[in-house]
Amino acid sequence: MTQNVLVVDFGAQYAQLIARRVREAHVYSEIVQSTISADEVRAKAPTAIILSGGPKSVYEVPAPSLDPAIYELGIPVLGICYGAQLMAQQLGGEVANTGVGEYGRTTMTRHGRSVLMDEWPASVTCWMSHGDAISRAPDGFVVTGSSPEGPVAVMEDVARRLHAVQFHPEVAHTERGQDLLANFLHHVAGIPPTWTNTSIIEDQVAAIKRQVGAEKVLCALSGGVDSAVAAALVTKAVGQQLTCVFVDTGLMRKDEGEQIEETFTRQFGVELIHVKAQDRFFDALAGVIDPEAKRKIIGELFIREFETVARDLGKGGDGPRFLVQGTLYPDVIESGSGHAANIKSHHNVGGLPEDLSFELVEPLRNLFKDEVRHVGEELGLPAEIVWRQPFPGPGLGVRIVGEVTRERAEILRNADYVVVDEIKKAGLYRELWQSFAVLPAVRTVGVMGDGRTYAYPIIIRAVTSDDAMTADWARLPYDVIEKIANRLIREVDGVNRVALDVTSKPPGTIEWE
Ligand code: XMP
Repeated sequence: MTQNVLVVDFGAQYAQLIARRVREAHVYSEIVQSTISADEVRAKAPTAIILSGGPKSVYEVPAPSLDPAIYELGIPVLGICYGAQLMAQQLGGEVANTGVGEYGRTTMTRHGRSVLMDEWPASVTCWMSHGDAISRAPDGFVVTGSSPEGPVAVMEDVARRLHAVQFHPEVAHTERGQDLLANFLHHVAGIPPTWTNTSIIEDQVAAIKRQVGAEKVLCALSGGVDSAVAAALVTKAVGQQLTCVFVDTGLMRKDEGEQIEETFTRQFGVELIHVKAQDRFFDALAGVIDPEAKRKIIGELFIREFETVARDLGKGGDGPRFLVQGTLYPDVIESGSGHAANIKSHHNVGGLPEDLSFELVEPLRNLFKDEVRHVGEELGLPAEIVWRQPFPGPGLGVRIVGEVTRERAEILRNADYVVVDEIKKAGLYRELWQSFAVLPAVRTVGVMGDGRTYAYPIIIRAVTSDDAMTADWARLPYDVIEKIANRLIREVDGVNRVALDVTSKPPGTIEWE
């Protein structure tokens, strides 16, 4: 990876967004802490540096700072918001604590020529979020933009390749924000747009080959996007050495097992061990109603099933030495260090017993979720897998309130299929974080034809969210709700009523258990 942009994180939620926007300009980027020294930067040899915004004022004590020697490395730097103010202050300009900030949409007026804003109109709408403002640019800088409360909204020192903007080019409300980032990357820093899905795949395939050599590799497929894309990459690299394991817990979505078989066995020609463990899961779950107890049983049994396969493969001494994990870049950043082998707490493959000591293969650990999906498409995975909404590790088990039985799982699976099918037909599937059916533990009275029914209600749960930490209930159109309700009652045996969950998170959770 020769072209690398460092995004210095000053504690805002914006650093990840900046890193993603840089990648959308087809340039690789990685997030580093603001405590990084000039020597550490030099060792990473980045082709550009972006300083993120942050929640603090440069006048607060303590406020995050930057090793000033970084400005002297000759590497192009773009400061954004807090990063811009810090650059101004550290290089001898002035930042005023005016007491009048700018928040939200603001008009920025241009002055003179600017390499960052080449061919922009005279005034542009920008997204601002600042209390302090740069009042005087440091010597050597030219002011190329200003806003009502920000005399120095953009400043540039072309000779030293230092640039700063008070507004947020990474947010969608800034007109031409992406264009500004692209100008900085391609024209100021001279980085060609070569970080593409094809280059990601080539890099990862080479890295996997180097790491595993001629050894055997094991991968647990969950039905989710991450494990599928990770497995597809490993297939492309060393497909003959790979064994995939799919444990059917009986709590998967409709057709999930068949889809995995179809893709990995028939399309990719990979050895797939399909463990049909439904009976063992339903036996273990009989009579259990406590949600945490259910989670624990499902998690532990999953590991036991996986372990049995791994031990069988290892008989004779030449079993797999490597285990594929679908760790993503946000998992790596959140772990606080750029290099820890951070096994997902996700129960599926986390917590494997120590004596099954695998070395991890993590081909997605530099990627964001949207990049993973695009790589998956490029590798030929079907859209149903690549664009799938998140699904909890314990599967339908945490959407069946009360006892999990084979019959109740079947009702919910069929109901879930109807909900998802109608949401897809309405073109809403990709914009919702999750949309699914829940089966409660009560039954209700209904009437069908001449007869009275006593059957289950189904609850429709659909939410919008960015990260599952908070979520809002989705305002589904009435006609979509109506179609779902009609089909649920007509097509799914055991259902005679439909309700809609209108709880946001917090105070609710997304799943019911
Ligand atoms: P909640 O229900 O806590 O869910 O709002 C937040 C997100 O996490 C998923 N989820 C789980 N994922 N094992 C998982 O791997 C679990 O036990 C689990 N519980 C919830 C949930 O689907 C949502 O996206």
